[in-house]
Amino acid sequence: MRSVAFATLLAAITTGLAAVTPQLSQRQGGSQGGGGGDVFLVVCTEPNLASGTCSTAGGLNACRTFIPPFNNSIESLASTVASVACAVYVNDDCTGDSLIVTNLEVVDNLAASNPNLKDALNSFQCIGTA
Ligand SMILES: *[C@@H]1O[C@H](CO)[C@@H](O)[C@H](O)[C@H]1NC(C)=O
Repeated sequence: MRSVAFATLLAAITTGLAAVTPQLSQRQGGSQGGGGGDVFLVVCTEPNLASGTCSTAGGLNACRTFIPPFNNSIESLASTVASVACAVYVNDDCTGDSLIVTNLEVVDNLAASNPNLKDALNSFQCIGTA
């Protein structure tokens, strides 16, 4: 199960990287320290990280908004870096109902696990060591 989920996650990440949405993956002003990039989340507008519905998101220690078509439309998401935790929120300013994803966790279907967050997420903030 876990390796299948991980393979799905890798596929989603690869897909996401192929079509990186600049606004979702923009770097913070300075250097990130030369690490392995700054993608900490995969977000998708359909359950199960469905191919073709995902993008990547990143940046550390700053509240960022999900841009269209992801705002109010995320139905599954995943953590991509074990040492980084990302909180996702219903409001634009990292407030309101939230969920933390970390340690390569995959949230397959918000409708089932967190119905209050399905198609309701608007911002995120990631914290950790990349
Ligand atoms: C996403 O945000 C844009 C503006 O930032 C807004 O016009 C649009 O209605 C939002 N989409 C949803 C589904 O809420």
